[in-house]
Amino acid sequence: MRIDIIAGARPNFMKIGPIINQLKTYNEQHPDSPFQFRLIHTGQHYDRNMSESFFEQLGIPEPDINLGAGSGSQANQTAQIMIGYENAIKAWKPDVCIVVGDVTSTMACAIVAKKAEIKVAHVEGGIRSGDMTMPEEINRMVTDSITDYFFTTSEEANQNLRTAGHAEEKIFYVGNTMIDSLLSHLSKLRKPDFFDQKIVGKKYIVLTLHRPSNVDDPEKLSALLDTIHHAIDDCIAIFPMHPRTRKVFDSIGKTYDKFEIVEPMSYLEFMYSVQHASGVITDSGGLTEETSMLNIPCITLRDSTERPETIHLGTNVLVKEPSQLEGYIKRMISGEWKKGQPIKYWDGKTAERIVEILAGIQN
Ligand code: UD1
Repeated sequence: MRIDIIAGARPNFMKIGPIINQLKTYNEQHPDSPFQFRLIHTGQHYDRNMSESFFEQLGIPEPDINLGAGSGSQANQTAQIMIGYENAIKAWKPDVCIVVGDVTSTMACAIVAKKAEIKVAHVEGGIRSGDMTMPEEINRMVTDSITDYFFTTSEEANQNLRTAGHAEEKIFYVGNTMIDSLLSHLSKLRKPDFFDQKIVGKKYIVLTLHRPSNVDDPEKLSALLDTIHHAIDDCIAIFPMHPRTRKVFDSIGKTYDKFEIVEPMSYLEFMYSVQHASGVITDSGGLTEETSMLNIPCITLRDSTERPETIHLGTNVLVKEPSQLEGYIKRMISGEWKKGQPIKYWDGKTAERIVEILAGIQN
């Protein structure tokens, strides 16, 4: 079985790492293994601290091919990735294309693969926010509509797929490969350099914002940051700033003395910061899974989530009204928060399940 594994943007890298490791392990343990694979980086994210540092820290091999798609409008990026991937399958046509998550690279490569009669496997298939203003929701729906094997993270995802009419035998509830990465790196997390000087001995939260709905409008971003800065009292907010956010933030021209604004952090340093925080304020989806696993309070600044299990079982709350934010932040800092419960199959063994299933498909 020839497999292409696609990764393009930061949240993809934690999801593919365990699958690649497991394929390698399987090949070592099975001399007659059917698996041959290539890693394709689309180049959607390309800064060192958005891409390369994750490869190094997560032990992911150098990509076999980098499509170098880079930044651009949604259509431009999608087109660049599709053209690049179509060329890549001319030289070596896989049987299965594994895409992960919901970024533009996921959808673009799934379309190319399906049209070339390559089976599409979607890791993290089936999740839905219901919010069609998010590019990710469109990516999820398009990808799932042409997926052959769904590897799902939650019962809710399974149900969404059934409701959409997908056959039960295509749905494999395997858990969460991002949690595989987290669990296997817990003992290796690293204190960031600035901690001893700026953070140790103080209470802090972690803040991340990058959704267009929160950061693209300077007035909205500025009002949001004002509210957070006021509500955290004498806490510090470590704020690793996404390049998209940085562009708009610089145009606002304000300073926030309780924010420790840093470049996007490496995986091991970022997860260390989260693990020791009083809480996290974010608009990321993946981070709500990681905080749930680590039992760290999490406020999500969005109207909806595609990961409802992080609310029902995890430590996440959705805050839709800015007027409610201050109250939640106070509760977070004072430690009055719900405790997370285990989520089925979020146990560090998801990649093993995926590879076993792929081996079974081959047989
Ligand atoms: C993408 C994903 C989003 C994910 C996020 C994590 C889509 C539709 N969105 O959003 O789901 O949560 O990644 O970061 O795929 N840029 C750089 N350097 C980089 C990468 C990006 O400077 O290495 C800048 C560019 O100006 C670019 C902008 O950030 O235009 C946005 O990047 P893009 O990949 O389009 O989307 P993200 O906002 O990162």
